[in-house]
Amino acid sequence: MKCTKCKGSAILELRRHNAAFCAPDFVAFFKNQVREAIRKYRMFSHDERVLVAVSGGKDSLALWDVLIDEGYDTTGLYLDLGIFDYSVESKARCEAFATSRGVPLVISRVADEVGAPVPVIKQVTRRPPCSGCGLSKRYLMNKAAQDQGIAVVATGHNLDDEAATLFGSVMHWQTDALPRQSPALASTHPKLVRRVKPLYRLSERETAAYAFVRKIDYIVDECPFAKGATSITHKETLNRMEEASPGAKHNFLFGFLEKARPAFERIDGVTLNECTRCGQVTSGTVCAFCKLSDQVKRAG
Ligand code: AMP
Ligand code: FES
Ligand code: ZN
Repeated sequence: MKCTKCKGSAILELRRHNAAFCAPDFVAFFKNQVREAIRKYRMFSHDERVLVAVSGGKDSLALWDVLIDEGYDTTGLYLDLGIFDYSVESKARCEAFATSRGVPLVISRVADEVGAPVPVIKQVTRRPPCSGCGLSKRYLMNKAAQDQGIAVVATGHNLDDEAATLFGSVMHWQTDALPRQSPALASTHPKLVRRVKPLYRLSERETAAYAFVRKIDYIVDECPFAKGATSITHKETLNRMEEASPGAKHNFLFGFLEKARPAFERIDGVTLNECTRCGQVTSGTVCAFCKLSDQVKRAG
């Protein structure tokens, strides 16, 4: 297999792009895709700080690596979910990465903010752990960005994540979720920061290859609570479709973004208030995060 660019020997074939690349040309391809994402959705500029939410996994560390290399002013944010060894090890990877690149890393502990770590939240709420966890992550990312005076949070969501989320929303026709499915969400309230996903054009396989080529030490294990999650089933389904017809995932997601998403945009946007307890944005009076921490406190 030869590199499409230089005709040297290729390390990776990308069937959906009808291309193969050697290591240096793959890195160049990867960075181009990130650049294109940032440009197309005007995610951020070189004149502002970017808060990069890092989980210690390949996607978010690959993202941080590219942004540093591209000269962006980044700060990392690690949310310590308190999920046993998984959190201990993923935190260590983020700290080691930040130290090796000489970039700042902010750490926020869910246990300090909610009153208990994710495994306890799971018991108290008797809901899938990912629901309380996802809620806390979104809230704490926004809060950390505000505390740091940073207007934009970047996450490592990739093409597979985005296609799987879209697939899930479409399977259940969650029309409320569809307009929010975007590589860039603008700030709709002074207390809500922008959220962007610069890796949305790159597949999980590509972020893994990038992390490998760049020798990034990341945590391979998934969160122990992720087992059996529907998002994983959706990813498997989409992978089978991709196998049969390369580019299927890309066409599904990009087709939605370009052709279908505008049809789901609501004109009568929800009114946003400030939570009477914590001051963060909510559609009600007390936000879901404050309700969650109340529930945790009540349970002792
Ligand atoms: P996930 O929802 O686990 O697939 O993660 C999606 C993205 O959310 C990751 O690429 C990170 O950017 C961010 N993220 C997930 N977990 C954490 C964490 N513990 N701390 C900071 N950011 C996270
Ligand atoms: Fe949130 Fe697993 S429950 S990362
Ligand atoms: Zn609140």
